[in-house]
Amino acid sequence: MLRRRFLWSILIVVIAATLLTGMPGCRSGNDDYEPIEDTSPPYLSELAEKLDFYIGAAVGESYLRNSEYVEVLKREFNAVVAENDMKWSTIRWSEHSYNFAPGDAIVKFAEENRMMVRGHTLAWHSQNPGWLRNKKYSREEAIEVLEGYITEVVTHWKGRIKEWDVVNEAIDDEGKRRDSIWQQWIGDDWIEIAFRAAHKADPDALLFYNDYNLEYPSPKQNAVYNLVNGLLKKGVPIHGIGFQGHFSLEYGGVPAKGTLKASIDRFANLGLIVQFTEVDVRIPKPVTASKLKQQAESYRRLLEVALEHPACNAVLVWGVHDKQSWVDYTFPNTTAPLLFDNSFYRKPAYYAVRDCLLAEIERREVEGK
Ligand code: XIL
Repeated sequence: MLRRRFLWSILIVVIAATLLTGMPGCRSGNDDYEPIEDTSPPYLSELAEKLDFYIGAAVGESYLRNSEYVEVLKREFNAVVAENDMKWSTIRWSEHSYNFAPGDAIVKFAEENRMMVRGHTLAWHSQNPGWLRNKKYSREEAIEVLEGYITEVVTHWKGRIKEWDVVNEAIDDEGKRRDSIWQQWIGDDWIEIAFRAAHKADPDALLFYNDYNLEYPSPKQNAVYNLVNGLLKKGVPIHGIGFQGHFSLEYGGVPAKGTLKASIDRFANLGLIVQFTEVDVRIPKPVTASKLKQQAESYRRLLEVALEHPACNAVLVWGVHDKQSWVDYTFPNTTAPLLFDNSFYRKPAYYAVRDCLLAEIERREVEGK
């Protein structure tokens, strides 16, 4: 009897505690954030268009079958980039053929919806098929393979893909050449070989060097600066720099505006276009209202600088909604880096981006630009 009363009192305490503090794992307390359903205009794409600016997203061909995904993508974005479908791992998973179907579907979708397409990426150390990695090419053979691939792929989408990330992540964090297959087989000039081949295949395409951690001064930023400066001096066709823009709130999110602007200035002074090509701002788990607010402030800083800078004409986020982001499976202690949540609800970061676009339109109207 005494024991039963004891168990009852424990149950009552547990129920009371649950009612007061909320179920474990549920939103609770002051740090609560309740997304509300809101699909009202203005949409990011229409605002971006007024500014001659691209607000884009990384997409996957397989996601284009999800009607909710497609609806948000069409409504809010005016540019797309293939998250994986234009990498060697997809296009050349087989040694003996080219698989263009997934990329074709993305390009077709973009054309039907008047979106700019960025191609990503022609030469990288990662996501190369096993058959390629296992080769032991001589320099001459490797040049032939690299040039052959770039020529085939760029020609395939000639005039339809406006910008290419020709070379991705060729410099490591210390500012040294990354030890990729191309670096090993060909040597330092593999980068200019890649750019020249792309330019030859489509002289109108804008060609980019793309990398992460370029948004603040570092040995890596210096090395990339020296690399592209050297290429330009040699007359290599390179038109832009992609700042990938993978940020985490663990490290303060997006750098201070002055830092970001100075980083863009460096490359812009070489006459290059600067774009933010793969933006996301990771949140250390658990997600709370105040962290979502910090995330929104990060996006705000980024957009303010990007929109004001004459050399910058694009911000692409690395995915449409949090559920589809690479962050959860790549950085498991962090999550929710994008503008739309798992259910495609707009996050505070979305509203921050939209506010920046609206403010820039107003600023230009006042200045009569
Ligand atoms: C990532 C994709 O998002 C993942 O789905 C894939 O498993 C690995 O690659 N820098 C790049 C992108 O240039 O291509 C990477 O994309 C993210 C980091």
